[in-house]
Amino acid sequence: MTITEFSLQHDGDASEYRAGTTDPDLQSWVDGIARLTQPAEMVWCDGSLREADLLTKQLVADGTLIRLNPEWRPNSFLARSDPRDVARVENRTFISSVDPDDAGPTNNWADPTEMRDTLNGVFAGSMRGRTMYVVPFSMGPLGGPISQLGVEITDSPYVVLSMGIMTRMGEKVLAMIEGGESWVRTVHSVGYPLIQSGGARRADVAWPCNDEKYIVQFPETREVWSYGSGYGGNALLAKKCFALRIASVMARDEGWLAEHMLLIKVTSPEGGVFHVAAAFPSACGKTNLAMLRPTIPGWNVETIGDDIAWMRQGEDGRLWAINPEAGFFGVAPGTGELTNATAVNTLWGNTIFTNVALRDDGDVWWEGLTETPPAHLIDWEGNDWTPASGRPAAHPNSRFTVSAAQCPAIADDWQALGGVPIDAILFGGRRATNVPLVAQARSWKHGVFMGATISSEKTAAAEGILGELRRDPFAMLPFCGYNMADYWAHWLRIGKELGVNAPAIFQVNWFRKGSDGGFLWPGFGENSRVLEWIVRRLEGTADVIDTPIGVLPTADGLNLDGLDLTEDAVEQLFTIDNASWRAECDLTEEYFAQFGDRVPAALNAELASLRYHLKD
Ligand code: OXD
Ligand code: MN
Repeated sequence: MTITEFSLQHDGDASEYRAGTTDPDLQSWVDGIARLTQPAEMVWCDGSLREADLLTKQLVADGTLIRLNPEWRPNSFLARSDPRDVARVENRTFISSVDPDDAGPTNNWADPTEMRDTLNGVFAGSMRGRTMYVVPFSMGPLGGPISQLGVEITDSPYVVLSMGIMTRMGEKVLAMIEGGESWVRTVHSVGYPLIQSGGARRADVAWPCNDEKYIVQFPETREVWSYGSGYGGNALLAKKCFALRIASVMARDEGWLAEHMLLIKVTSPEGGVFHVAAAFPSACGKTNLAMLRPTIPGWNVETIGDDIAWMRQGEDGRLWAINPEAGFFGVAPGTGELTNATAVNTLWGNTIFTNVALRDDGDVWWEGLTETPPAHLIDWEGNDWTPASGRPAAHPNSRFTVSAAQCPAIADDWQALGGVPIDAILFGGRRATNVPLVAQARSWKHGVFMGATISSEKTAAAEGILGELRRDPFAMLPFCGYNMADYWAHWLRIGKELGVNAPAIFQVNWFRKGSDGGFLWPGFGENSRVLEWIVRRLEGTADVIDTPIGVLPTADGLNLDGLDLTEDAVEQLFTIDNASWRAECDLTEEYFAQFGDRVPAALNAELASLRYHLKD
């Protein structure tokens, strides 16, 4: 049943639905996509609660959503995806720039003319028998100087509902487009038409998708086309596809930054306020830092964003940042009372869960939510599960989709129209060796070098010997819409423009291991001690030691009061082994080599300087 049929049955009036738009560009684009995909119906989404309520009722009736027990989890739902559609598909993600060198060696490039032909083929008739939804959305607060508008056309009501949580969506955005604001075009189809090419009708399934998948960005025309997947990162096109891949290209051309960074507001016991942006590769505790509860007295950390930051130089010369999203699409497993109580409290209701386990009482569960699992569950694939089953109950990439406003730690300025001024930028990876708990960059250029060389060990390191490194520069490897080396050059340019107003840059590593193979640092709330040192550096009150790899705290510089850490562990957390770092420099040189002469001279100079200072 479509939303229009649903509303006709319930209200008997379809006339209140919009027939179209007064914006001729938007109208002709929507008409063109409708001619191509041939949906049975079209709905212009208004973003109202009533619309979301109708959609959830429809999705429950269709079996896509299971309504959770409202006593435990009001207005919340569980979706179980097709087991073949559970994550982003990086090998099916393409940057279709005119020049392959503009995509660079770290992206999958596809010729735009050929790709348009392919997409015209797979999208032809792809929405037959379905409703096509037109979803106008704003990334960032409506009308803010850093915000941008977009429209997603989709045949997935699950996507519409999720977009209503993840973005500011609906009527007001449409009015802005009709008022002449520019906007980005994004098209999505699950690739499961209900009327097949021969004309035969088939029944819908709970999670329609297609084995053939395309996630395509056209940087020059600022377009996204996504086919075959209903999963968040592939289907909620405002997020990774627009807010990172397309926006990074817009940012390059327009002189701003679109980054895979969380945003927090840190308040010191003296009442000093500092805004921090931080880039971490996946599985490095990004959401935990975004919602950190300090263990040290008097400190407060509030959330502004958990995934993406857009930053632009303000009139005062400083770098100002917004979280372009309105919700969190977070990984559920590992989110628990002990690791991230703030996230758990955010999820009290009004949440869509995807691929978590269902409890017998109609609530949800995932690994890490509680220490002891329930005695019986229905797992993410709909099968009976007990702790003896020997497999996870929730998919490791199962997710929650929830409004950021519901986060108890959300900062009062999280929706500030012009954003917040950034005092510090952090780069983190998951490193067993070499990288100390915290180091400050000596300059913006050195900071860009730190960002460009973010990595995690692929293989376990043995006794101080460097493991193989998986590079994830600026945590943007799957998200940079253009040549990574050009992106580094862009960061250098921005630094020049910011000059003395540039934020300080730090490298952090919560994951260093000791000679016994165990983690040296307790992490989680204790990371507030590192934030304290960073703030003291910003205030200019912390003493430092200059080392070849950056500026480190003095032996007693870090506040370790009340922490049960041996002197030896503290020493190991900050040890710089010159030989191992020289080996890392060789790996960095190899890594840079793939970008040829597009690597900015300043980064080669940083590498040369590091090598020079590492000489025994
Ligand atoms: C995400 C990711 O889902 O970075 O946020 O993969
Ligand atoms: Mn992310």
